[in-house]
Amino acid sequence: MNYPDVVKEIEKMLWPRPLKLFTAGPVSCFPEVLEVMKIQMLSHRSSEYRELHKDTVKKLAEFLEARKTTVLLIPASGTGFMEASIRNAVSPRGKVLVTVIGEFGHRYKEAVERNGRIPIVLEKPLGKPVLPFELDEALRKNPDVEAVTITYNETSTGVLNPLKELAKVAKEHGKLVFVDAVSAMGAAELKVDDWGLDLVFASSQKAFGVPPGLAMAAVSEEVFEKAKKIPDRGLYFDLLEIKEFLETQWSTPTTPPIPQIAGLNAALRIVEKIGGKEAWLRMYAERAEKIRRGVIELGLQLFAEPGYYSPTITVVYNPPGVKGPVIYEELRKRGIEIARGYGKVKDITFRIGHMGYITNDDIKLLFDALREVLVNIGYKPAS
Ligand SMILES: Cc1ncc(COP(=O)(O)O)c(C=O)c1O
Repeated sequence: MNYPDVVKEIEKMLWPRPLKLFTAGPVSCFPEVLEVMKIQMLSHRSSEYRELHKDTVKKLAEFLEARKTTVLLIPASGTGFMEASIRNAVSPRGKVLVTVIGEFGHRYKEAVERNGRIPIVLEKPLGKPVLPFELDEALRKNPDVEAVTITYNETSTGVLNPLKELAKVAKEHGKLVFVDAVSAMGAAELKVDDWGLDLVFASSQKAFGVPPGLAMAAVSEEVFEKAKKIPDRGLYFDLLEIKEFLETQWSTPTTPPIPQIAGLNAALRIVEKIGGKEAWLRMYAERAEKIRRGVIELGLQLFAEPGYYSPTITVVYNPPGVKGPVIYEELRKRGIEIARGYGKVKDITFRIGHMGYITNDDIKLLFDALREVLVNIGYKPAS
């Protein structure tokens, strides 16, 4: 029995016309990733599945330089691990220093509060990173916090925090370090063991260019030890149980998103074929540089503080006199989907995501269309 119309009907619903994606995630996926995700399902308790899980964990651990920490893959989006970090490794009513440089820092604060813990907030003006001396001061003032949370890449402002330096400060104060690397992992350098990160998590639909549904994390022994003392870790995100299934079965307590894990495995193989982690990160850095250069050449202004630019998303001030998602809407009419401004700066910025499968031709199309949009709305591009 064959029902090809079903596919056509859904394609028509989702893709009535082609669009080039410069989104904040989900992002455009490598064709090989999509191809492998079509394979027929198999039991997640089979030896074949275990082999896939094991191989993916090993490849990701290598990429993250996480040899002492444990890499976990679970059916969730990144926020699952955000919640898990608090529930598993902060005492009930315990305090957490939450660093906030944008919307996703606020979300971590909410995760702390909604799990009955107490956030102490270190907040910076939008567009700026947290600096190590500021974290040091905050920890001196609040020596009783159990952990520090850091958004590595703030997707709402396009700022990359100086994670290595911040983690060093937090570890000097003896704190657990939880890192939201949702829009950084796979594009920004991460050396989990060397930098002393205790729980660093991401979602599949970002820089590895895989569809959503899989959350990845590297978790330190310190976190697992702490978790043993925490009551009420819950059912779904109990890190000790998730670790036990990894160690005994190379699988997960609940059913894993097998296609996404196969997709991540394919992405990590592409990393190897490109020449390894360094070459892959260079590709990301060069792509980001190219996007920023294009924006500046048009006479537009970047939102992030120089020196802290994101390798995955470029946030740009709207041209003078433009309010709201005008650039987004105009580009969409021309077959290009960027991301609207987000959070408090939604009316004054637009965002160009540069994660996943993007070619130089795509970037050229983007800038040709952007130039046309700017001219149409009466803004004179610089060059
Ligand atoms: C920095 C950051 N943290 C957390 C999230 C939430 O991720 P998810 O929706 O995969 O849980 C996002 C999503 O864009 C993000 O960019």
